[in-house]
Amino acid sequence: MELIEAIKARHSVRKYLDRPIEKAKAAQLRAEIDRVNEESGLNVQLVLNEPKAFSSGLWKYGQFSGVENYFVMAGPKGKESEEKIGYYGEKLVLLAQTIGLNTCWVGLTYKKIPGTFTLRDGDIVHCVIALGYGTMPGVQHPQKPAEYFYESSEGLPPVWFRNGLEAALLAPTAVNQQKFKFILHPGNVVEAKTSFSMAGYTAIDIGIVKLHFEIGAGKENFTWA
Ligand SMILES: Cc1cc2nc3c(=O)[nH]c(=O)nc-3n(C[C@H](O)[C@H](O)[C@H](O)COP(=O)(O)O)c2cc1C
Repeated sequence: MELIEAIKARHSVRKYLDRPIEKAKAAQLRAEIDRVNEESGLNVQLVLNEPKAFSSGLWKYGQFSGVENYFVMAGPKGKESEEKIGYYGEKLVLLAQTIGLNTCWVGLTYKKIPGTFTLRDGDIVHCVIALGYGTMPGVQHPQKPAEYFYESSEGLPPVWFRNGLEAALLAPTAVNQQKFKFILHPGNVVEAKTSFSMAGYTAIDIGIVKLHFEIGAGKENFTWA
């Protein structure tokens, strides 16, 4: 499965089967985590067969069940690090999708279980990403027209920009808030902007949508502002 197909097939999945992730797939995910940590300076970790982080029935939002595997998205504090959490976490989400696994980003409704991950000095856990074989593939989130999400000083944007935007609109964002806009400047320069959100998480969201935009548009067609 190509990444663009993974973007189209991916939806948040909150209910999982009691089916372990095979060793070969876990090894593939760990190899990508090593690359991600090397490139980004983050401290992402994979926790397998650990049911306690999602075992509380108290949380209403999301209604998770059967979650026993997750990525711990740890790294330094701050906006720059949050954007990387989004960008690199979504790389792992899309890899998982291509090898037949389902995922859900989780900012709030989980518990940190001591002893299952390690933090370096200055690291925090920004969020986790649930992972496994879903009971269902999930459903497409509600969509607003693309016109709300871009500005262009160049008139009607070129095809590559529209493809990037289309991929960005399929991205997961916290509570599906989609507080982002892509601005096309002269010389194929693209600016990605966030707007205010009561829910927060906009810096993580912008990292996620920027990865989707790059995959949809083709990195060779533009540069980030
Ligand atoms: C940073 C972030 C945090 C999220 N936190 C939660 C959460 O705590 N609980 C939950 O059920 N879903 C959470 N989600 C999933 C979103 O609700 C979901 O991505 C959004 O509704 C769009 O749906 P889709 O992922 O199926 O396209 C989160 C998503 C992101 C990107």
